[in-house]
Amino acid sequence: MQNRIATPVGITLDRFIKKKQNDFAFATGELSQLLRDIALAGKIIHREVNRAGLLNIGGAYGTENIQGEEQQKLDVIANIRFIRALRNGGEVCAIVSEEDDEILDMKNPDGRYIVAMDPLDGSSNIDVNVSIGTIFSIFRRTSPVGGPVSEEDVLQKGSEQVAAGYLLYGSSTMMVYTTGRGVNGFTYDPSLGEFFLSHSNIRIPEDGKIYSINEGGYEGFEPHVVKYIENCKKQRFTARYIGSLVADFHRNLLKGGIYIYPSTDKTPNGKLRLNYECNALAMICEQAGGMATDGKMRILDIQPESLHQRVPFYVGSTCMVEEVMKGLS
Ligand code: AHG
Ligand code: MN
Ligand code: MN
Ligand code: MN
Repeated sequence: MQNRIATPVGITLDRFIKKKQNDFAFATGELSQLLRDIALAGKIIHREVNRAGLLNIGGAYGTENIQGEEQQKLDVIANIRFIRALRNGGEVCAIVSEEDDEILDMKNPDGRYIVAMDPLDGSSNIDVNVSIGTIFSIFRRTSPVGGPVSEEDVLQKGSEQVAAGYLLYGSSTMMVYTTGRGVNGFTYDPSLGEFFLSHSNIRIPEDGKIYSINEGGYEGFEPHVVKYIENCKKQRFTARYIGSLVADFHRNLLKGGIYIYPSTDKTPNGKLRLNYECNALAMICEQAGGMATDGKMRILDIQPESLHQRVPFYVGSTCMVEEVMKGLS
């Protein structure tokens, strides 16, 4: 009997969203529609990413973002695609994006949701064909529907997120998200144009042996980080650092591990941005049974003070995050 590997066709993302929506008694379907709009934009970016080398859309765009980073063409393209998909979807009243200095008003005054996004994470890896991603956080607006968007709308604590997720453009394209009832992963089948449930109810191992940190910053690390890394080496742990947060995070989520972007002498608040990188991954990690802190407090409890605020970031298996924090007490 030929040993055929059956390719079971799982539930599509659309059907899963619909099913989960029915679990929420008062769901109006708006959040479901917003998640579909994000998945649509993800399919478009999947196509752009996979053709970047052929369409001359690799390389630098020639401008800098507010972070002082040289924008890559795909940073700008991904930003435009997500803004367009979310504006046309009609559910979003404002967006905070890594690639835009100010709050983006979607001119949808009836939109009930705010999206904070990193449209393309891991830009330094675009031209060398290494996995990259998109990160998104979804909040309900706090100001009255129909009125102007306020700064309070977009500076909410991570604990106020109604949903969070990421897309990973890797050996396959995946969408992983949570609405506060566990974490589920969907794999994109380009031949069918659909995401299919492939990782149901993801749980991160409580402990792990993989640590992700850019050791190039070693000379500028704080003592507790140096001590932790030395301890990882003594235990012959595995060092894995891709330079794309989404890819490093996803591997550690599935296998167990810790990702650290610490405060250094050159980057006292670390590099990663609270509003559109850390909050989303912190919610996903906690929903999967892990932990996310800035070294002192829970990421989701931090009150943002500005749109592009950076925080030190320790995220992953609970035992590993607790271990590195011990060095601070
Ligand atoms: P982005 O490409 O969205 O600016 O984010 C890059 C981040 C993150 O993805 C990655 O882990 C980290 O920057 C790499 O920074 P270093 O090159 O300083 O290690
Ligand atoms: Mn960037
Ligand atoms: Mn990023
Ligand atoms: Mn980015």
